[in-house]
Amino acid sequence: MYLTNEEEKILKGEYGPGLALAMELLVKLGEVFDADRLIPVKMAHWGLSGQEGDLAFAEELAEGGAKVRVSTTTNPAWDYELVNVFKPELNEHEIELVKRTYDVCEKLGVTKSFSCIPIYGIEERVKYGDHLAFSESSTPPYINSIIGARTNRESSASALAAAIIGKTPNYGLHLDENRLPNVEVEVDFEPDDFDFGMLGVYLGNLLSPKDIPLIKGLKRMPSFEALRDFGAMLNVSGTTAMYHLYGLTPEIVKLEKEGRVPDKLQRISVEKKEIDELKEKLRQKRGPINSVFMGCPHSTYAEILKVNELLGNRKVSKNVSFIICTSSYIYDRLKKEGVYDQLEKKGVSVIKDTCVDEPVFKKLEGMLGATNSYKAYYYRQRRNQELAVMPLKDVVEAAVKGRND
Ligand code: F3S
Repeated sequence: MYLTNEEEKILKGEYGPGLALAMELLVKLGEVFDADRLIPVKMAHWGLSGQEGDLAFAEELAEGGAKVRVSTTTNPAWDYELVNVFKPELNEHEIELVKRTYDVCEKLGVTKSFSCIPIYGIEERVKYGDHLAFSESSTPPYINSIIGARTNRESSASALAAAIIGKTPNYGLHLDENRLPNVEVEVDFEPDDFDFGMLGVYLGNLLSPKDIPLIKGLKRMPSFEALRDFGAMLNVSGTTAMYHLYGLTPEIVKLEKEGRVPDKLQRISVEKKEIDELKEKLRQKRGPINSVFMGCPHSTYAEILKVNELLGNRKVSKNVSFIICTSSYIYDRLKKEGVYDQLEKKGVSVIKDTCVDEPVFKKLEGMLGATNSYKAYYYRQRRNQELAVMPLKDVVEAAVKGRND
């Protein structure tokens, strides 16, 4: 891979060991994927999530004097104030990980956004054709597909290295030829928001990591929430960093105009009954519930208002912890507008900066819960908690009754 004189100097350590380590990672990555050079990135998102391996790498970079060169956001860990709410029995190591996460963000100059919908609220800053380095599996599909900006599905370490150098190796989805569709997916029904997320689960199981599906049959652009969930679920059951929506997403519209859509596409068709069967399977655990998990990926402002509206004057069952994870940006808005207090009185905890897959929810493990997110179901299961997956309005009903019937 070609390096400029400046890049060579960074690699040799002339700007300190932190930058050298970040550059070494990018050069190795570039060599593995046959990149010709490094290209500048406009922004980065670091999917840290308070995990120890990624944290150790970040601390080594920070000790070596590295700081991010481009605007960089980060994934949620957990809000330390929650120890007073959920009173989990945490060990010293678990508490230490959160403190180290905050410290290292400070040292590296990373924005402590702690949200897994990093694109929410900054969409206007990302333009068609921009190059970015985003980890957090749910976001690259949105950036590549809906905005037409370009990012690979970065690991936490490669996104941080790119943020520090301000560049990424030129390979994968940064290149025109790797963004063309190779699979045509015919959807024979008009999915609602929840169905669209389920379609992501279904297709993630069928597609291979290099596939770029072209989805046909949709009459309108799905909502932000549906697109967020579609991208997220594609990357829980599979690995898909980009898709096209026929006639709707910018890159396929341009490719069509230029006559550059490949003719021979592999074909898949999806019928409503296949999605209905999947929904039934994911919902089938019945009985009393102790919790609701929403916000995996983080809930939007509109979604949280919807919960308030669906509850009306009713309260959540006293046996149920109703948790909505969101960004501090949305949390602050809800507090300012009084919605937070209304929800709190109804038994809903809106939580900022936190991921559902964290030890702070330990006391809820071992019992059935409910969710509108397959991703929450997947991660809570790894923490010894089964969740029944269902649409938002059914989640609210189950929360009021205290059971999934
Ligand atoms: Fe976000 Fe954690 Fe789910 S990072 S997408 S809440 S697993």
